[in-house]
Amino acid sequence: MAEHTQLIDAVNIRTAIRSYDSDPIDDDAARQLEMTLDPINLLSGLHIQLVRDRPQVFAEANASGHLKNAANYLAIVGPKDDDEAKERAGFYAERVVLAATLRGLGTLWVAGSWDRAEAARHCHVRRDEELYLGVVIGHPEHHLERLQESYDELVEVQRTHRPTKSYEEFTAGMTDDERAAAPEWFRAGVEAAMKAPSAMNRQPVTFSYDADADTAAAHIDPSAGDEHWALNDLGIAKLHFQIGAGQGQWAWGDGGLFIHR
Ligand SMILES: Cc1cc2nc3c(=O)[nH]c(=O)nc-3n(C[C@H](O)[C@H](O)[C@H](O)COP(=O)(O)O)c2cc1C
Repeated sequence: MAEHTQLIDAVNIRTAIRSYDSDPIDDDAARQLEMTLDPINLLSGLHIQLVRDRPQVFAEANASGHLKNAANYLAIVGPKDDDEAKERAGFYAERVVLAATLRGLGTLWVAGSWDRAEAARHCHVRRDEELYLGVVIGHPEHHLERLQESYDELVEVQRTHRPTKSYEEFTAGMTDDERAAAPEWFRAGVEAAMKAPSAMNRQPVTFSYDADADTAAAHIDPSAGDEHWALNDLGIAKLHFQIGAGQGQWAWGDGGLFIHR
């Protein structure tokens, strides 16, 4: 894994991890994660916090066997009633997820598989803020053996571990001719977005390319039935697209444009 240190490498190997070893996240690892979190919070206006050793937040999911040894989480806290902040939360928290992936940690976004009220008790939620979502974080089960696996093996696990909408479905608004004429960076961006996590794997985002303006756009697909978490998933998908495309920047919002440079 040593030579695989770029965010695109994390995109290519990340999968949701539901079983963890009981080893804690030690102070050193926590410090490193916080060094990633601090500038992200500053940049994004979010208030993402690492909370360690609170297995009671996942008591039910751990007891049912849906999760194993879940005990640490990122509390994704941001401004109340702010749609753009929800999208930014997806974008920037997924950035932390990918950094954690490169450190060999496992992650799982959670909307339902936790006790939200209990989670809120162990983080700071100011009066004008809310706790949007959580991300379980920890050492994946059998993590020492896992460290021996090659990058290519992990890529293969990512590629085959779950179904995905096709490239054509992700670009549903485009004709075959438009797809063929789109630049390589657009295809690479969409392919990275296809590997992104989304609530219940609904993959509620589509992309299009405008040849005249040389821009891409990202849209929420209302038929995906992800009305609850669509903005978060839009932010996650935009981050993955941006990493896949190599360089460039998004405008926020449903229909927001991406300029490649
Ligand atoms: C906003 C959001 C909420 C999620 N909530 C849960 C959850 O409560 N329980 C769970 O097991 N997985 C949850 N997931 C994980 C998704 O099921 C998972 O990302 C999706 O199936 C795609 O799989 P992958 O992450 O392995 O690519 C959530 C993902 C997202 C993005």
